[in-house]
Amino acid sequence: MSTPTSTPASPEAGPDRSALVRAVAEHHRDQRGPLLPVLHEVLAEFGYVDAADVPVIADVLNLSAAEVHGVVSFYHDVRTTPPPTHVVALCRAEACQAVGAESLYAAAQERAASGEMGDTEVQQVFCLGNCALGPSGTVDGRLLGRLDAARLTELTAGWR
Ligand code: FES
Repeated sequence: MSTPTSTPASPEAGPDRSALVRAVAEHHRDQRGPLLPVLHEVLAEFGYVDAADVPVIADVLNLSAAEVHGVVSFYHDVRTTPPPTHVVALCRAEACQAVGAESLYAAAQERAASGEMGDTEVQQVFCLGNCALGPSGTVDGRLLGRLDAARLTELTAGWR
């Protein structure tokens, strides 16, 4: 069975991983709606769902690879690539936009693309409930307010 995605399987998708993914799927197989619990457990174990995991999960759950791929690709939080070392998530919702979030987001993306922040992914989020302290964001999961480019540079100093 082939996956309906063009994403190549990562080198980490070896026989051990495949066996573990199969065991996870078998563990949840008899539950009602087992696919999401399986995906959550694979994400907890590996940080992402590899393309090679899809046919394994589909086989165990008696689903088509397209059905599994459809769910994997539907949810933004289901990663399909290995997670980066660092994640900077910046709010781009209205209150933060009003205090400079767009230029901060652009600057952060530029720095990440240039490699200045090492293996860092810059993500956009829409309201973190910290509107009064915008621009808001998280740096490796830590909620921060009153962010600007200088503070972000300071926070990410040494990330190579
Ligand atoms: S709008 Fe940015 S935290 Fe609410």
